[in-house]
Amino acid sequence: MESMGFSALKQSYWRWVFLFIFSFLFHTCFSDPRITNAGLFCGDSRPPNGTNYVPTFTELMKQLSNQMNDNHFASYHLNSTPPMYGLAQCHEDLDQTDCLLCHAEARTRIPRCLPRSARIFLDGCFLRYEYNRDFFHESVSPTFDTVNCSSNNNATALDRDQNSRMISFGRNVDHAVGNVTSIALRRNGFGVVGMDGVYALAQCWDSLTPAECRQCLQNASETVRRCVPNDEGRALNAGCYLRYSTTRFYTEGADSEGHHGYSIGVIIAIVSALSAFVTVSVSAAYVIYARLSKRKRELKNLGRISKRFDRSGLKFKYETLEKATDYFSPSRKLGQGGAGSVFMGILPDGRTVAVKRLIYNTRQWVDDFFNEVNLISIIQHKNLVKLLGASIEGPESLLVYEYVPNKSLDQFLFDEEKSKLLTWKQRFDIIAGIAEGLAHLHGGGSHVRIIHRDIKSSNVLLDENLSPKIADFGLVRCLGTERSHLSTGIAGTLGYMAPEYLIRGQLSEKADVYSFGVLVIEIVCGKKNSSFTKSGSLLQTVWTLYKTNALAEAVDLSIRDEMSAKQAPGVLQIGLLCTQASVLLRPSMAEVIQMLTDKDYEIPMPNQPPFLNANVLGTATSSGSYSTDSFISNALRKIQSSGTSSESSGTR
Ligand SMILES: *[C@@H]1O[C@H](CO)[C@@H](O)[C@H](O)[C@H]1NC(C)=O
Ligand SMILES: *[C@@H]1O[C@H](CO)[C@@H](O)[C@H](O)[C@H]1NC(C)=O
Ligand SMILES: *[C@@H]1O[C@H](CO)[C@@H](O)[C@H](O)[C@H]1NC(C)=O
Ligand SMILES: *[C@@H]1O[C@H](CO)[C@@H](O)[C@H](O)[C@H]1NC(C)=O
Ligand SMILES: *[C@@H]1O[C@H](CO)[C@@H](O)[C@H](O)[C@H]1NC(C)=O
Repeated sequence: MESMGFSALKQSYWRWVFLFIFSFLFHTCFSDPRITNAGLFCGDSRPPNGTNYVPTFTELMKQLSNQMNDNHFASYHLNSTPPMYGLAQCHEDLDQTDCLLCHAEARTRIPRCLPRSARIFLDGCFLRYEYNRDFFHESVSPTFDTVNCSSNNNATALDRDQNSRMISFGRNVDHAVGNVTSIALRRNGFGVVGMDGVYALAQCWDSLTPAECRQCLQNASETVRRCVPNDEGRALNAGCYLRYSTTRFYTEGADSEGHHGYSIGVIIAIVSALSAFVTVSVSAAYVIYARLSKRKRELKNLGRISKRFDRSGLKFKYETLEKATDYFSPSRKLGQGGAGSVFMGILPDGRTVAVKRLIYNTRQWVDDFFNEVNLISIIQHKNLVKLLGASIEGPESLLVYEYVPNKSLDQFLFDEEKSKLLTWKQRFDIIAGIAEGLAHLHGGGSHVRIIHRDIKSSNVLLDENLSPKIADFGLVRCLGTERSHLSTGIAGTLGYMAPEYLIRGQLSEKADVYSFGVLVIEIVCGKKNSSFTKSGSLLQTVWTLYKTNALAEAVDLSIRDEMSAKQAPGVLQIGLLCTQASVLLRPSMAEVIQMLTDKDYEIPMPNQPPFLNANVLGTATSSGSYSTDSFISNALRKIQSSGTSSESSGTR
């Protein structure tokens, strides 16, 4: 093996990669790193004026993470200016991988408090740092200790009226909390218990002495009882964490003290269970073997892909990007997309870039990620935002794009003042630019075909010359769009989605053509398609005007002049052609470019777009506020009927 030559950095990089693989192969099914945030508290200490705390902070976190690689506890004192103290602890029942995942999550969230000191309680781990103050033996703190009570289900809320059940629930919580405290005090500061439907976990930080742990847990067990009748309660103290819940939240097998002696029935059960166990373990062994060899294959595959990635020169260090974006400071945030939030960053060499944090939710993502990054980096065009690289070694994946200074098209188009800056000529050039960028994505000029899927005004960025650059392409595919799109992005993009994609998930370049058509109409009219008026959607208005031969009336008032009077109706007609319900009738992007540039090109007559006879829009506007869910499902039904009817008329 060549591993002897690996640098420390390389090792930590591989550790993260392995971590992700493990987490996706095993953790979604077997365990849970419990990364829910139970409380983040920014402290009152700050670094002294004029000291550079960022390198110190980074160094401290690095030291802690190194210790956490094979421990459940880490503490570090960094003797610098300012001196810093840090402590990290995982709950004892988490296995090492879950512990690392939880710690990684805490590490990414805690810098939100910088430059102030901070402590964060996740449900599986704890992380804290202070300047100039040794807190390793602090067990309670009057200013910061809190309880966090919550309820998950309605049952307990209703039970509140039923006094006797509430009293007995309160007694059960008392017993569980009291028992878990004494177990933890007996067993080095950690215990879990499940009794009478109440589950509890107690954890002291390993830096405390037994007496300090006792003080902390006794205080916590008193305060957490205030959460009754809530079905969840968490005491968040300086030196410990204590949680009770009506659902079993800790790792199976950690509560071996929960039994109460054996009856005959239990013995019989054990005997029959034993024989079942033999059968099960044989098959389990086979399953594990199969899983392990699958994992081996995947790791090998990943190794191959990421070696290619290393060589591609697209690799950025996580730390570099963290610093470049000032630790993902909210003041640097440029926007929030479906796949993650985007921050402005300044690289050490002075280049300004846009850094995107990815929200990923598929197991396959690692593979897809590398493929996409490799793929997208090949695709370059003046109307596509350039991908400069990516970082995969940190606790989350980051993509680095060129920075486009003028923000997105929607911020111009739908702003009363700024929209005046966009003359007809500029709008025409923007439309032509988007068309060229899309045609390039769709395979013009290279052998790779990419479907963008989310063409909309907020995904078109304008540079200093107001030329358009399409952002956010490619990766959408590997980031689990199907569900997340419908559940999160649809309010914004409903107006842009092609009916066949929206309803049946059928995806082709023609879905982008549809969205492009909507965008063209928006640019020319200066209005949002999704903003419904009394007369229905923008698309409907334009269609009606087209039928009465009055397309010029749809053009944005602020750009009406001689030139637009001549060209705009033709461009609107192209928009209508692109938004036809029938996939086959929509032109390709290459044809669209011809129509836009070739004056002699005869633009065909469009068929009626979908969505039109949808009286669902009436219910949406009449009430003012509407439920998005029912709105969408109604709209879907409407689109389905109108879509299929025009499809059949189109092929007739
Ligand atoms: C309390 O815990 C819940 C998770 O159960 C979390 O969503 C919430 O933000 C916490 N409250 C505070 C104040 O941190
Ligand atoms: C540090 O600077 C801030 C403002 O720059 C000021 O308000 C604060 O009093 C200063 N603190 C010390 C200890 O000098
Ligand atoms: C727990 O500690 C807090 C201060 O940290 C204190 O106010 C409270 O009285 C203590 N409760 C008990 C029961 O000791
Ligand atoms: C809880 O009950 C209220 C009304 O009693 C209901 O609106 C809400 O949807 C319920 N929530 C859950 C999670 O069941
Ligand atoms: C532990 O639970 C039992 C009931 O199972 C209860 O009688 C006892 O008081 C509890 N112990 C403590 C210390 O709360």
